[in-house]
Amino acid sequence: MENKTYRIAVIPGDGIGKEVMPEGLRAVQAAADKFGIGLELTHIDWASCDYWQAHGKMMPDDWKAQLQGMDAIFFGAVGWPATVPDHVSLWGSLLKFRREFDQYINLRPVRLFEGVPCPLAGRKAGDIDFFVVRENTEGEYTNLGGRIFEGTEREIVIQESVFSRHGTERVLKFAFELAQSRPRKKLTVATKSNGIAVSMPWWDERADEIGRSYPEVAADKQHIDILSARFVLQPDRFDVVVASNLFGDILSDLGPACTGTIGLAPSANLDPERRFPSLFEPVHGSAPDIYGQNIANPVAMIWSGALMLDFLTHGQGAGRQAHDAIVAAIETVLREGPRTRDLGGQADTTEMGKAVAALI
Ligand code: NAI
Ligand code: MG
Repeated sequence: MENKTYRIAVIPGDGIGKEVMPEGLRAVQAAADKFGIGLELTHIDWASCDYWQAHGKMMPDDWKAQLQGMDAIFFGAVGWPATVPDHVSLWGSLLKFRREFDQYINLRPVRLFEGVPCPLAGRKAGDIDFFVVRENTEGEYTNLGGRIFEGTEREIVIQESVFSRHGTERVLKFAFELAQSRPRKKLTVATKSNGIAVSMPWWDERADEIGRSYPEVAADKQHIDILSARFVLQPDRFDVVVASNLFGDILSDLGPACTGTIGLAPSANLDPERRFPSLFEPVHGSAPDIYGQNIANPVAMIWSGALMLDFLTHGQGAGRQAHDAIVAAIETVLREGPRTRDLGGQADTTEMGKAVAALI
């Protein structure tokens, strides 16, 4: 496996995506060199608002063919609302990748690090360490439905959700597998079967059915309302949390928010079957308010790179070692500095990125 050269499409995108990407690459390259992982990087300037300004579209027409043979996409952030409306920039790039490459898992680690002030009182490093697994292709996010009798007293609006057996079982299986691979082997299934009386009881049944194949995993179901409260009140309860598209969208912002700055949170958009390239990106956007000063926190980008190396080698061998080395370097820098301003320090993006890479 170590002899393979992985092909990576590097897409910085817009705003601070362009400032944190060099630091993401610095860490990924350092770890790849150290553990003997071959990488072939292809630098891409489209999927950005600069490209849109020059060409009137976000991407070339043959974007899919250009990316199809890649093993992964390393992505910064897209969006520059001053020149391109967000629905145009996001639907014209990132959302096309997620859909057309069937990246049906959105995976977000949630961890509290030493040296990072926690917005929850009385929590220390180690107390919060879990994953949110979000279904990324169907569920509540559809364009099915419509309006009739518009503008009259009889106006009616219907918005449909779509839960397929195929789509539901594959995300549940992924979550059970992930829980099975972790020491605590706990899975929390987000539901709302008391209120959403058709799809959610069925979702619960699917979880019971899939769970029969994972007797070692302790699975429990929690309604989304109390589950959200527990993210704040008892975050130490969680190990792996799986949720539908809407619930997962909310939980995957709430989780990282409970552990400090958005500048730390990474994410992976995965096609676990590897028919298409998976995409690794920070949770944050292009941050126009701080772009141009080189003060963005590069950790979310760097940690996303660690997730990428781990995924490329199936969570084993050199890629897992590279991942662990990057995360250990992040831990040390967060504890001892240098730190960017969002963490109360004075360092710039490059200084913090170089410090992480030096430790790898
Ligand atoms: P944002 O995440 O870009 O910024 C929110 C706030 O967090 C800002 O005050 C920003 O300065 C701060 N921040 C973000 N990343 C940081 C970092 N690494 N270090 C320090 N501070 C950081 O979200 P916002 O402002 O709502 O969106 C800006 C643009 O980004 C929009 O065009 C939006 O559509 C796009 N966006 C793109 C995403 C993506 O590419 N996946 C995700 C979220 C937003
Ligand atoms: Mg979101």
